[in-house]
Amino acid sequence: MADNTVYRASTTAPVNIAVVKYWGKRDAKLNLPTNSSLSVTLAQSDLRTLTTASCSATYPEGDTLILNGEPSDVSGARTQACFRELRARRAALEAADPSLPKLSTMPLRIVSENNFPTAAGLASSAAGFAALVRAIANLYELPASPSELSLIARQGSGSACRSLFGGYVAWRMGEKADGSDSLAVQVAEASHWPEMRALILVVSAAKKGVSSTSGMQQTVATSGLFKERIATVVPKHMEAMEKAIKERDFATFAEITMRDSNSFHATCADTYPPIFYMNDVSRAAIRAVEQINDAAGRTVAAYTFDAGPNAVIYYLEQDTDIVVGTLYSVLGAGIDGWKQSIVESLKQPAVTLDEAVAGLLKGGVSRVIMTGVGEGPQKTDEYLVAEDGTPV
Ligand code: DP6
Repeated sequence: MADNTVYRASTTAPVNIAVVKYWGKRDAKLNLPTNSSLSVTLAQSDLRTLTTASCSATYPEGDTLILNGEPSDVSGARTQACFRELRARRAALEAADPSLPKLSTMPLRIVSENNFPTAAGLASSAAGFAALVRAIANLYELPASPSELSLIARQGSGSACRSLFGGYVAWRMGEKADGSDSLAVQVAEASHWPEMRALILVVSAAKKGVSSTSGMQQTVATSGLFKERIATVVPKHMEAMEKAIKERDFATFAEITMRDSNSFHATCADTYPPIFYMNDVSRAAIRAVEQINDAAGRTVAAYTFDAGPNAVIYYLEQDTDIVVGTLYSVLGAGIDGWKQSIVESLKQPAVTLDEAVAGLLKGGVSRVIMTGVGEGPQKTDEYLVAEDGTPV
């Protein structure tokens, strides 16, 4: 009898923000990096992708993907690589046990949604590919560990491999030409250092900047400074960062985070022609963090920037008053994203920022996101594909 079942599995996956940045590919096809990197996984209550993977012999031919309500192209090499690898693993299970339904031969229907507005200007490819890979692995009941799945997610988007874990996560660059040792590992659970918080200042960009994929290729091809970064700067940062996390040493964590962001953006400026991701508002956020740390008399906050102008500020919960209090007093209650329970309990006085810095932040930050370290992908029985296969 024909199998008319609609098979489905759902997962959520988190966003991660690197504190030692991935920037540069040594193999663009396999998406192998020129250096290792390390990130903090952010809480999914604030930022997450929910993905349902389904398959059925009753679906019309061809795999499909709906992203935030819009049909999305799956023909790209990266998505295809993920589908191919996951299907091959399922096919191997089916070959070993002929009683298993032949899911590997059925068209996939995938529906995915973010719980944060695209307008927030956050790159969602990390959470997106991590959720896609985890959801299909669940659908296919693959016995693969998160590190094994990170090998697949990496081929979708490099930073996605780190979103297969919660807490503090390293992507080991590996040495092998086939990429089989270029994978993510957990450095520490979220519960090891649960006080870590992130305040994201969303800065609107006048026009869309250079994508990270193309930006890093230009940097590898033209920057001399980049060679120094991957040969000495990053290895040193990786070692010091892992130690700082193990010892819960925020001052060192913060210094490496800021230095590594600065180093990454310096190689962008050294790219020819130069690439600028930060703008005047981003630089004002750097000054604000410096002024807060100076006033505190110790390091209470650290900034980092990805391939765009948004500032991510890491701090510890016990320093909420000085870090959040200062930025809240400058940015005001008028923008979205403040958590009422937190801002209502702030104790003044906050640090008074330099007028020019305060003015740039006030004029340029369009919203904030308050979050912190969080867990890895979670299986869920919330489905974006109904039992009969209809996307919901
Ligand atoms: C600056 O993972 O988006 O955010 O592998 O080409 O998809 P692709 O690049 P992507 O690059 C992220 C770059 C970064 C730093 C980081 O997350 O480590």
